[in-house]
Amino acid sequence: MDLTHRPRRLRRDRVRGLVRETSLEPTDLVAPVFVDATTDERVPIESMPGHERVPPDDVVARVEEVLETGVEAVMLFGIPESKDADGTRAWVEDGVIQDATRRIAAETDAYVITDVCLCEYTDHGHCGPLEDHLEEGVADHDATLTVDNDATLEALERIAVSHAKAGADMVAPSGMMDGMVAAIRTALDGAGHEHVAITSYAAKYESAFYGPFRDAADGAPAFGDRRHYQMDPANAREAIREVRLDVEQGADVLMIKPALSYLDVVREVRREFDHPVAAYNVSGEYAMLHAAAEKGWLDLEEVALESLLSIKRAGADLIVTYFAEDVAARLAASR
Ligand code: PBG
Repeated sequence: MDLTHRPRRLRRDRVRGLVRETSLEPTDLVAPVFVDATTDERVPIESMPGHERVPPDDVVARVEEVLETGVEAVMLFGIPESKDADGTRAWVEDGVIQDATRRIAAETDAYVITDVCLCEYTDHGHCGPLEDHLEEGVADHDATLTVDNDATLEALERIAVSHAKAGADMVAPSGMMDGMVAAIRTALDGAGHEHVAITSYAAKYESAFYGPFRDAADGAPAFGDRRHYQMDPANAREAIREVRLDVEQGADVLMIKPALSYLDVVREVRREFDHPVAAYNVSGEYAMLHAAAEKGWLDLEEVALESLLSIKRAGADLIVTYFAEDVAARLAASR
């Protein structure tokens, strides 16, 4: 055959590295860490094999484990000792995240990102205090309740400032409240924390892939769902609008969540904006690969690596993932 074009020439072993378009580094990854104020021992999270809730006393050791793999950043989620309707344990000085952040900042070199949301702190499990009006003549009152956006902003400001004060490098508001980035930026700057960055969960979808996380963080809504604030999975243009609003409000990093089912959105945001783009490879995306691997249907190491590579290829600069440590260790071993 007289073929001019033979793409296979560039697939031979020694040349593959030279023509590779995308690479994955341990420093691209952020490892989520669950800090649980209700336990003295590590508690395995059943739906997320390999992950545990760790007590505050053990969080430095946990973060050291992450750092050893070459991953330099952690994202902290907290399980407080008690919950109430307004989620007040989210911003107290002796709160679980404030405590954990102080310890990590004092004793490690980790870059600390904190989740800024109320769903783990409210007794009803929604991402902010509920509006206090009930619609007249509706039999199911719960169905009419929704999160009070503007009251939530005040809480988010307090939370972000308390995290910054404890030593957080970056805060990541995940509640999809309108105006949350501007509110937090203004509050941080007003408190002298202008160096603390904001990763906005700019486009966060109302996704069934968060199931295992809600077990892990004990943050499932007690009634209803999060459709009133998280985005409809059917919408992509709306994501661009959401992201643009967060850019205008001063977001430093733009996050899309979940990742794998929303790679089109990651790509669009990459094209449309100059900011670093983050993607959150969520708990359900982790759990499903583990479940299939447990059955012997998939090779876990391979599919984990391929998933993260695909998220980078789509345009993410950084990836929050429960695979962070495993993949980083694997990358280091293949050097
Ligand atoms: C909310 C929050 C959620 C996740 C991260 N932050 C859950 C939700 O919106 O219900 C999910 C992460 C995951 O599934 O891995 N603070």
